[in-house]
Amino acid sequence: MTRKVAVFFSPDGRVAHVKRNTSLWEAAAQAGLGLKGTCGGAGTCKRCQVLVRDGPALEKGTGLPSGAGLVLACQTLAAGSVTVDIPQDSRLAEHKVLLGGEDVLTESDADLGRIYRLQPLCRKVRLTLAAPTPEGNMSDWSRLQAALRGETGCDTFRISLPDLRRLAETLRSGNWQVTATLVEAAGCADIVRLEPGHSAGPALGLAIDVGTTTVVVHLVDLETGLVLGKKGTYNKQARFGDDVITRIVYATEQENGLSQLQETVISVVNQLVTGLLAENGRHRRDVHLAVVAGNTTMIHLFLALPPAYIRLEPYIPLAGSPPPVRAAELGLAANPHAVILCLPAVASYVGGDIVAGALLSGIAQEQEVTLFIDIGTNGEMLLGNRDWLVAVACSAGPAFEGGGITFGMRAMQGAVERVAITPESYEVTVETIGGVRPLGLCGSGLIDCLAKLCAAGIINRAGQLQMDFATPRLRRGDDGPEFVLVWQEEAGGGKDIVLTGNDIKNLLRAKAAVYAGIRCLLKAAELEMEAVWKVLIAGGFGSHLNIRDAIAIGLLPDLPAEKFTFVGNAAVKGARLCLLSQEALSEAQALAKKITYLELSAGSDFMEEFVAALFLPHTDLSLFPSV
Ligand code: FES
Repeated sequence: MTRKVAVFFSPDGRVAHVKRNTSLWEAAAQAGLGLKGTCGGAGTCKRCQVLVRDGPALEKGTGLPSGAGLVLACQTLAAGSVTVDIPQDSRLAEHKVLLGGEDVLTESDADLGRIYRLQPLCRKVRLTLAAPTPEGNMSDWSRLQAALRGETGCDTFRISLPDLRRLAETLRSGNWQVTATLVEAAGCADIVRLEPGHSAGPALGLAIDVGTTTVVVHLVDLETGLVLGKKGTYNKQARFGDDVITRIVYATEQENGLSQLQETVISVVNQLVTGLLAENGRHRRDVHLAVVAGNTTMIHLFLALPPAYIRLEPYIPLAGSPPPVRAAELGLAANPHAVILCLPAVASYVGGDIVAGALLSGIAQEQEVTLFIDIGTNGEMLLGNRDWLVAVACSAGPAFEGGGITFGMRAMQGAVERVAITPESYEVTVETIGGVRPLGLCGSGLIDCLAKLCAAGIINRAGQLQMDFATPRLRRGDDGPEFVLVWQEEAGGGKDIVLTGNDIKNLLRAKAAVYAGIRCLLKAAELEMEAVWKVLIAGGFGSHLNIRDAIAIGLLPDLPAEKFTFVGNAAVKGARLCLLSQEALSEAQALAKKITYLELSAGSDFMEEFVAALFLPHTDLSLFPSV
């Protein structure tokens, strides 16, 4: 038997009992402590640094004792009981999560899409059945179905075997009064709960956005359509990798990788659901339905569907429109028979979250052309109107979420989100989320910073730092030229916060990928940018974005500011629409079929557009007349 060793974490006072030679990274996860890391524990991102204060620790690979000072938690094994310090810099902190929308969906989103009739997929039907007689001697199950048919218009009903076994007792103990909770879809109804008598208990539903970075849940009263509460947090799958590709690799190549990823995301959802139920004094047995929106990979991981072929040419998902499943099959904190519906995807890289956004924003109802943009590690763009819709996806990389940038971080407390540079003195002032000392830069801060450096002439149009400027902020660091944005005396982490030449290259690549994707969409539709009537920006990144700066660096098209609208977390709001309206769900299913997916890797257009967009704002300045 393998002896367990104890890994103590200070100053948290937490302990994990793990097998000898478990990595400190896994031990931290077991102790419920989130460590930064974007490489899934491959040892390449260098973000999971910890200090071994006491006890035997070995280097993974060589088996030699680990050195003194900071070590990578994912590359260090606990050879016996050890005590480990986690510096603040290495800790995963909570970041801003866009919960999305107001409490009454049909009013709050009326300006975006159209209003759908409140007709939830799930409802309670209270029935009074005729008691059996020698003449009326049909079976209990037939008697129930006949009554339900008369009440609902549905033809086919399904019931779980345990509920069927209890049916005789349920009907008789309620004196032939019974309450059936039904989830109806496509002319068929699932009986998810049967209660004796006429129950006044609520029917609750969940709208869930499973994002690569964040997870958001809305708890909804299905009878009134009211949102009882919303909660969001970061997706703890981040410890297996920051983007969908690293997570697919982890799920595919690690033993139990897929089940680890699924258990992690289900535990995150359950933590949010349990909190919402407790705050509202509700019970999980009353949760009968959930509608889930997520990108195609995240839905695969949520359902534990092997995602391997999503990243291999020709990029085929296992299921674009997975069949409904039961809460018990996923271990979701709900009535075990609750139906879980995942919104359909368009393709491997345009998922149900984009379909939800398209539904919410009403693109398919408009005569004018709308551009819908969701920028994360993957940039997804949708263009069209009521007659046609085309979508593309491009890999923007993790730069806008802080990955691959020396002082990059997610939008959380201490992240710089605004930058100003005085033209002559090159003095810098920054604003941070939470108004605290700066720790690093989030996506909007990075875009702002790039735009201001370019405007001040500190970087040229190719993004190169101009080292001949007379300011101590420009200097050579370990990774080559860099610009000091915040001196260590003012920084929260006690180090100068810099933007390096390599950081700038990564940002240029990210913004060029997004802009090239937009250009390819327009080319496919044979339209000029001016034909775009409005631009909708979705996702957590959008809400902090300064539009003028995003145009100045050539990330967004040069259109008047009034054409841009932030739609916030469109995925969860779209999922909520589907939860509350059968009409909306049918429309989402139709939208997924209607959207044409354009595979950017199939032609040379994308590469040409990408290379042309690697300048600030672009090689072709006529595309950016206002900059
Ligand atoms: S180096 Fe440890 S998680 Fe990336």
